[in-house]
Amino acid sequence: MKTIIEPFKIKSVEPIKFTTRGEREDILKKAGYNVFMIPAEDVLIDLLTDSGTSAMSAKQWSGIMDGDESYAGSKSFYRFEKTVRNITGHKFIIPTHQGRAAEKILFSNVGGKGKYIPNNTHFDTTRANVEFTGAEAVDLLNEVGKHPEIKADFKGDMDVDALDAFIQKVGKENVPLVMITVTNNSGGGQPVSMKNIREVKEVCKKYDIPLFLDACRFAENAYFIKLREEGYKDKSVLEIAQEMFSYADGATMSAKKDALVNIGGFLSMNDEELATKCRNLLIVTEGFPTYGGLAGRDLEAVAQGLEEVLDENYLHYRIRSTAYLAEKITAAGIPIIEPPGGHAVYIDAKRFLPNVPPHEYPGQSIVCEIYLEGGVRGVEIGSVMFGKYDEKTGELIPPPMELVRLAIPRRVYTQSHIDYVAEVLIETYKNRDKLRGYKIIEEAPMLRHFTCKFEPLT
Ligand code: F0G
Repeated sequence: MKTIIEPFKIKSVEPIKFTTRGEREDILKKAGYNVFMIPAEDVLIDLLTDSGTSAMSAKQWSGIMDGDESYAGSKSFYRFEKTVRNITGHKFIIPTHQGRAAEKILFSNVGGKGKYIPNNTHFDTTRANVEFTGAEAVDLLNEVGKHPEIKADFKGDMDVDALDAFIQKVGKENVPLVMITVTNNSGGGQPVSMKNIREVKEVCKKYDIPLFLDACRFAENAYFIKLREEGYKDKSVLEIAQEMFSYADGATMSAKKDALVNIGGFLSMNDEELATKCRNLLIVTEGFPTYGGLAGRDLEAVAQGLEEVLDENYLHYRIRSTAYLAEKITAAGIPIIEPPGGHAVYIDAKRFLPNVPPHEYPGQSIVCEIYLEGGVRGVEIGSVMFGKYDEKTGELIPPPMELVRLAIPRRVYTQSHIDYVAEVLIETYKNRDKLRGYKIIEEAPMLRHFTCKFEPLT
């Protein structure tokens, strides 16, 4: 059969609300032209994020009823620990309420002024948690990953030579760990090859520096390896994931992605001394080490989700359905990061709106217009999210790419929802000459994209 169907049937539904363009104009204005400020009820198709937005399975919901809510030593924790350990192979498994809590605990222990954390590309919260300690977050993406139009299999790979040179430059004592983000969310959801993970590990070994994975989308990454890397087509996704983690000395995980849950995360590692320090901080900030900011039922749902996410029928549908949206919109000429990522399609706003310069936020302009056009919510990943100001001149220093991410929640939307999204995007593209830039009129000093307010330029 040619059609790849959703590998589930729907047992419970949630209505979505339809609005008119006129209503959406008022809603967007009231939100300060920041889609994070729009009440979700006023969004028709929500592609803001794939994080915490998964539909859980009947088995996960039954796990919720079965959750053991004991403060210490809950049976749900042991199930969670066993499942995570089976995948990661790591000795110490520390639950946290979400990914950034794991990051905060890890970097509070290893970061600090004068330290550097290399990554293929830091996600925004990872960067913020590194920088919050006074350390510097350094992105060392390979060259091909920086070119949206080039089609390549593993555009999330780290530049291994640059990593080696960087460690030599700043001194290995100033690099407490190296991180690889799988898949590379900020760089287009692109996968990292096993070869690259192995090579990065070799460099880390040479300087005796631990390697950590930011493992939010490890299963999607493993499936890409199965599809694209030589020697992996006959291996199970679990085996591939196990190999990926075998090169890592630890990991941070937001279970809100590839554990198919609405809340949860963990920190895993092999270093006992570091694990003790992390657990001590966990007790202060998250909770006792056998629940770490989660309810027992959440731990059950994570454990079940981690098993389901490795199902190849699921991953086949997942990766194909993202590619399906990409194929529809690229056929209409819309420029995207090629090839499409695992969890999202990333529109290349620079090529979509060549007349809107970075300091007028072309990505933001597209995000606003697709909401107005069809009630679709995406997110800007460009100068709004990652732009910085020059300390002397106050001018915007834009990041290399201006993107709009359309993240696909897991198991939530059907093919006709996605067909509708494609129509909205194509209509917006046809009218692109009418789109204008935006200016920021209010912003916070960190992670400004969540709360800043805009004004449209005329
Ligand atoms: N690392 C990566 C690669 C992420 O994509 C995220 C979250 C985190 C860490 C932090 O995890 O949200 O559980 O605290 N990404 C979401 C997104 C928010 O929309 O891409 P968290």
